[in-house]
Amino acid sequence: MTKFIIKGGNKLNGKVKISGAKNSALKIMAAAIMAGGRTILKNVPVIDDVLTMAEVLNQLGAEVDFDTSHNILEINPDNIKSFEAPYELVRKMRASILVAGPLLSRFGEVKVAIPGGCNIGSRQIDLHLKGFELMGAENVIEHGYVYSKAVSGAAKGAKRKLKGAEINLEFPSRGATENIMMAACLSSGKTIINNAAKEPEINDLANFLNKCGAKISGIGTDSIVIEGVDELAGCQYEIMSDSIEAGTFIIASALCGKKVEIAGAVWENMGIFCQKLKDIGVNIENKENSTIIIKKSKGILKPAYISTLPYPGFPTDLQPIATVLLCTIPGISIVTENVFENRFMYVDELNRMGANIKIDGHHAVITGVNKLSGAPVSATDLRAGAALILAGLIADGTTEVYEINHVLRGYENFDKKLRNLGADIIKVS
Ligand code: EPZ
Repeated sequence: MTKFIIKGGNKLNGKVKISGAKNSALKIMAAAIMAGGRTILKNVPVIDDVLTMAEVLNQLGAEVDFDTSHNILEINPDNIKSFEAPYELVRKMRASILVAGPLLSRFGEVKVAIPGGCNIGSRQIDLHLKGFELMGAENVIEHGYVYSKAVSGAAKGAKRKLKGAEINLEFPSRGATENIMMAACLSSGKTIINNAAKEPEINDLANFLNKCGAKISGIGTDSIVIEGVDELAGCQYEIMSDSIEAGTFIIASALCGKKVEIAGAVWENMGIFCQKLKDIGVNIENKENSTIIIKKSKGILKPAYISTLPYPGFPTDLQPIATVLLCTIPGISIVTENVFENRFMYVDELNRMGANIKIDGHHAVITGVNKLSGAPVSATDLRAGAALILAGLIADGTTEVYEINHVLRGYENFDKKLRNLGADIIKVS
C-alpha cells in the first residue's frame, strides 16, 4: 500500500511554484465537450483527477492527449457520440457529474451516474437538477443514474435544446453554478443564475467559455447572465494557479518555514484566508506578480476562530490544513465548518498524533499542545491527507500517512515540492 513517510523537525526554505488549479481544470475539460474543434489547455496539473476526467472524455468518444511533461492537454470532442458517464468513473471522481451540463447542452440529453457521498458529506446534486428542469429538461432518476432530456426547450429539431431561465440557487453551490452555466451556453435565450457561487475557479471557467464564443456576463458576482449562442469553438487557454495548493504551502511554511517564497499564490483569490493568518501572527507578505512570502514568525502565534463559508469566505478546503496550525498554538481555537456536514473525519487521526481537539457538531474546539508526536495515520480525504502530512512535518519522530491515493488525486508532485524545500518525506509503494 503506497504511503508517505515523514520525519519531523526539518525547516522549510526556498521557493515553490504552485501548479494549475484542479477545481478549474476539471470543469474546463468538461466544458470543452461543447466547443467544436481542438481545445488546448496549458498549466494543467498532472494529478489523478485530471487523468480520470480525461478517461471520462475518452469514453464519451473525445480525443484527449495529455503532454504531462509540459502540462499541456488537448481535447477534440468532435467525435463524441455517447452522452453517458458510467458509474465506475463517477464513483472514482464526483466531479464527473460536471459533464452533465455540457452534454445536455450539446445533445439535449445525458445519462450520468449519481455521485455517491464521500468522507466529507452527502454531496447532493438536487440544485444541479433543479436548474436543468427550469431550462426545459426532464430528470428521471433510476438504478443509480440520472437521465436528463430536454423536452420543452427550443423548437423541435432546433440546434439549441434547452431554453434560458432565471434560476435562484438556494445555496451558492459551485458544482450547480458550473453545470447550469455550461448548460446555458448553447440554450436559446437568456439564463440568469442568482445566488451563484463566486470562487475564482468559476471565473476561470466563465472566461474559458467566453473565449470559446459564449456570452457570459456578471462574472465574479452572485448573479451570472448567460445569453445562449449557436455554437462554441475550441481555443487555447491557460488554467489559473491553485489557491488551495498555495494555501497548503503557506500553512506548511507557517508551521516550520524559515523563509519560503510561493510563486503562483494570488493574494486576491484567498484574501480572507491570508488576513486570518496575519491576525494569528503569521509573518506573511504579498509580493508582486502573484508571489507570497512566509518568514519565521517574530512572536508567539495567537489562537483563532475560523468559520468556513462559500467564497469570499474562509475556504472549506483549507479548514483541515489550518486546523493543524492551530493545534500547536497555546490557548483555545475554534473551527466551524459551515459548508460540509462531515469534514472533521481527520481529527481522530490528528488526536492520535497528540493533538487535543474536541468535536461538537459543526465545531472543532482545539486546545493548543506543545508538540505533536509522529504516528501511523490514514488520510480520510484529499485535504485531510494534506493536513496529516503537514502535521508530520512538525511532529516528533516519524509519521506514516496511509491511503495517500486521496492526496495524489489533487496535489501535483506534493512530496517532491516539500522535499525541495527541505522536508524529510518519501513516498513508499
Ligand atoms: C467543490 O465541490 C469542490 N470540488 C470541493 O473541493 C469544495 O470543497 C466545494 O466545491 C466547496 O467549496 C470541485 O470543484 C471538484 P458545492 P462541489 O456544490 O461543487 C451542497 C477538494 O478538496 N449541495 O459548492 O461539490 C453539498 O452537499 C474538493 O478539492 C447540495 O445540497 O461543492 C455541500 O454540502 C472537496 N445540493 C455544499 O452544497 C447540490 O445540488 C457545497 O457543495 C449541490 C451542493
